[in-house]
Amino acid sequence: MHDGIQVRPLSTALGAEIVGVDAAQPIDDAAFDAIRRAWLDHLVLLFRRQDLDDAQLVGFTGRFGELEEAPLFQGSRYVDEHPEVMIISNVTVGGREIGSLGNSEAFWHTDLNFVAEPPAASCLYAHEVPPAGGDTGFANMYKAFERVPAAMRARIEHLSILHDARYNSAGYLRESRVPDTSHPIVRTHPETGRKGLYLGRRSNARIEGVPQAESEHMLETLWQCATSDDVTWHHRWQPGDLLIWDNRCTLHRRDAFDPSQRRIMHRTQTRGTRPF
Ligand code: SIN
Repeated sequence: MHDGIQVRPLSTALGAEIVGVDAAQPIDDAAFDAIRRAWLDHLVLLFRRQDLDDAQLVGFTGRFGELEEAPLFQGSRYVDEHPEVMIISNVTVGGREIGSLGNSEAFWHTDLNFVAEPPAASCLYAHEVPPAGGDTGFANMYKAFERVPAAMRARIEHLSILHDARYNSAGYLRESRVPDTSHPIVRTHPETGRKGLYLGRRSNARIEGVPQAESEHMLETLWQCATSDDVTWHHRWQPGDLLIWDNRCTLHRRDAFDPSQRRIMHRTQTRGTRPF
């Protein structure tokens, strides 16, 4: 490990805290190699007590790959100067929401699973968090794949899921219509070479080439493997927390929280490749 950087695992399932890094400052290549290695090993990294403006969040995310622009929000950008930054928030200013996803539960999903080339990394930085609720959970898809019964594991290696693009993770209809996309159920991580489940999100998903009832039955089994306690870890946020997760081998979800409390998070993501 690089001098001055510590990696502290956060659970047996996934997640590690990185100590000794100021994400607002340039990170030298040797330090960044250690961080990237920890990210590939632990799937989700936590950096506490960070103080980042949007330019610094964009700069930090850019070390992990090419940034993607955030989707338009109510026809315009979340942050005019930084089109890569998405705001996830329940706060309204002058009667207008400043961000997406409100205060309700966000169901288990991986980001933009319904596009041809879903993002690789997602970063989430906490500006304001409620005193209770709004925790974000993560699930390890390598471990989930190992939990699938052997006969089903062999079968799903040759099957794909058609991913529904209509609803976001909080159950809202999307502003723009994107065609549904098919991806293999078992995905090989392009950097680690490890196999993991790639389930996307549960609602309206369908395994292709399999009768509907059988598809539902198989998806129920796969989702149980993917979200059982022994493959998950939940993060209780503090302001200044920065998380980066790997969408290629994790799922995430968020707990609901009291609508009278404020939660403001800024999010960025890097470009990914077509799952194979
Ligand atoms: C998300 O699903 O990307 C948002 C997670 C969160 O708000 O904690």
